[in-house]
Amino acid sequence: MRTKIKDILTSEQVDYSVNLKGWVRSFRNNQFIALNDGSIIHNIQVVINPETTDESLLKSIQTGAALSIEGTVIASQGKGQTVEVVANSVTLLGECNPEEFPLQAKNRPSLEYLREIAHLRFRTNVFGAVFRVRHSIAYAIHKFFNDKGFVYLHTPIVTASDAEGAGEMFRVTTLPFDNPPRLENGEIDFTEDFFGKSTNLTVSGQLEAELAAMAFGEVYTFGPTFRAENSNTTRHLAEFWMVEPEVAFNDLEDNMNLAESFIQYIIKHVLDNNMEDLKFLDERLINEEKQKPANERSEMGLLEKLQFVIDNQFERITYTQAIEILLQSKPYQKKQFKYDVAWGIDLQSEHERFLVEKHFKKPVIVTDYPKDIKAFYMRLNDDGKTVAAMDILAPGIGEIVGGSQREERLDHLTKRMAEMDIPTAEMYWYLDSRRFGTAPHAGFGLGFERMVLFITGMTNIRDVIPFPRTPKNAAF
Ligand code: 4AD
Ligand code: MG
Repeated sequence: MRTKIKDILTSEQVDYSVNLKGWVRSFRNNQFIALNDGSIIHNIQVVINPETTDESLLKSIQTGAALSIEGTVIASQGKGQTVEVVANSVTLLGECNPEEFPLQAKNRPSLEYLREIAHLRFRTNVFGAVFRVRHSIAYAIHKFFNDKGFVYLHTPIVTASDAEGAGEMFRVTTLPFDNPPRLENGEIDFTEDFFGKSTNLTVSGQLEAELAAMAFGEVYTFGPTFRAENSNTTRHLAEFWMVEPEVAFNDLEDNMNLAESFIQYIIKHVLDNNMEDLKFLDERLINEEKQKPANERSEMGLLEKLQFVIDNQFERITYTQAIEILLQSKPYQKKQFKYDVAWGIDLQSEHERFLVEKHFKKPVIVTDYPKDIKAFYMRLNDDGKTVAAMDILAPGIGEIVGGSQREERLDHLTKRMAEMDIPTAEMYWYLDSRRFGTAPHAGFGLGFERMVLFITGMTNIRDVIPFPRTPKNAAF
């Protein structure tokens, strides 16, 4: 039976036998192995006797090598740890050539370099912490909804619909791209394609989730989504995971309350369960910020920020109020914004950052956007100009959640679709939800990686998903 290092380090017990399996992080004085097995950020110190250990085995104890160790847990003789393991026998499971293995203890590889060796970066402290926290967030999401009685719905990954109407999709086809079958008018004949129609990778599971919400009341999706937008930023991925709850009978305010309590629940779960990793990430961020000029550093440390978000309510303002605040702001008046501000514009990231980081200094929910900058399914407000939309903006991240109350009135919905050139005939299945027992309902999408960014304090979204897909990059 293998004992996990986490169990040894978190229990106070000593004087018992263990079998450890893990990877060498460092080896010092031919005697002290720092062994890590991924169960916890810390290594355990394994003490071996160089006198009684085979010469060739000693040589093979290199950073990165996999070992199996039989030994006894004892109270530590040295500083820096309370317990350690005295080895009775050491078995080499897999060697690791120090001339070739890039992750040597003495190097301090940059995050950029580690991205190029993403297949190995799990073995660093930073990525160990990030991906344990990522796991914990995923678990908290399922637990939150399960405990509330939501049904987890698996929505299709290949679909013929463009949920957001954004048109930036990856096509899925088995047609030969050098010589596809064509109609008489020269257009590609998709009836010959695998699904008999043009299909793409999903940009959102929302439309399908709405259908299920009209039966279960409360559902959520949690799956991969794909966007072929050519956005090379620290906040965008071409393949990212999204969580989309959809709730029958909820209005916009219920939707905001759900989203706010959801985010706070996730953060609390991680604070309760991943403190070792968070402390490490907190220090990592402090060190990273030392490179920045003082006025660009965050006002709060990571742990302080997370605690602040669960202790304080989010600010709630309408889009119209947001525009007024921006028009009166110093950066607007001093012409420091790159993009213009006027009612009707899509808020740019510089505007969102000003509202969240400078003006309110807390997460902000912006509601009731102009209908022309939002998707067709959002419910039209009585003013005829705005829709019941909500975006949640988080410090350092920008938009972390996008959602709305949905247009449940068939006549309003079909009118809006016609205005936006969305074919109603093909979308009969979506419109059926408005024909057969329609009801008010609302939902939102949380960008999972943006949530992981926020909680880990990492600054590039490529560093919080194991194998990022971004423009011109699909390695591994
Ligand atoms: O605002 P979005 O586009 O909303 C929807 O897709 C709705 N169907 C959600 C719903 O109401 N059910 O995307 C939702 C969230 C954004 O707020 C952002 O956090 C994240 O998904 N997101 C991305 N994350 C990483 N990379 C990208 N390219 C992203 N695009 C959106
Ligand atoms: Mg959005």
